[in-house]
Amino acid sequence: MNKIVVGNHKMNLRPNEVEAYLKALKSLKSNQVIICPTSLYIPFFLKQGYLVGIQNTGTDIKGAYTGEVSPNQAKELGVFVTIIGHSERRQLYHETDELINSRLKAALKAKLKVILCVGETKEEHELLKTSRVLKHELLADLDGVESIGNIVIAYEPIWSIGSGLVPTNDEISKTIDYIKKVVANKYDKEIRVLYGGSVNDQNISTLNKINNLSGFLVGGASTDPVKFKKIIREVVKK
Ligand code: PGA
Repeated sequence: MNKIVVGNHKMNLRPNEVEAYLKALKSLKSNQVIICPTSLYIPFFLKQGYLVGIQNTGTDIKGAYTGEVSPNQAKELGVFVTIIGHSERRQLYHETDELINSRLKAALKAKLKVILCVGETKEEHELLKTSRVLKHELLADLDGVESIGNIVIAYEPIWSIGSGLVPTNDEISKTIDYIKKVVANKYDKEIRVLYGGSVNDQNISTLNKINNLSGFLVGGASTDPVKFKKIIREVVKK
């Protein structure tokens, strides 16, 4: 299966910068590239024909949930995928596995595809608790989820996000195998796994050699069209 590159803009880019960004990326539309802009800008990217993701979605179809976007609203607008359980949601906004689980179920019900993010902190990494943490997150977040057909996992070590620190290819590859094993034990199916955390135009050719990976979730570098193009060119081979 073809690898994918997902750009997560988070809360970055001003309106005029989005305009320039769209111009700069123009020639690079591909069904292997998904852009997750700040929600406000989603219609601009849809209009230009990009595959678009949303950075989070709510637990219900509609209602009194100030500040939330329903997965059905996203789906009906043309959004392809939602990111659920990003570590910034877990850490900065205290999203629990229980909440993530209900966001995930609502998204699947709305027929959105889901990128479920999991990853360990620096401390957990140093205490060799990575496997335990990942297993706990995966099983709790997927609790009661019947099918994984529309889910991709993003392995994002929290200590690597935005830090410039990246695990070795060997470490990433072993962790990906572990994630696949945990999911296969529950569903008897192989899940696709992305890597995220300080992926950039300098390290992408090395990271792209990891052969059990299905692609990358790119934060900071995806907001710079020059860097993002280099990453896409490396991963999306014609
Ligand atoms: P980063 O972010 O590439 O800036 O480290 C990745 C992410 O948070 O998805």
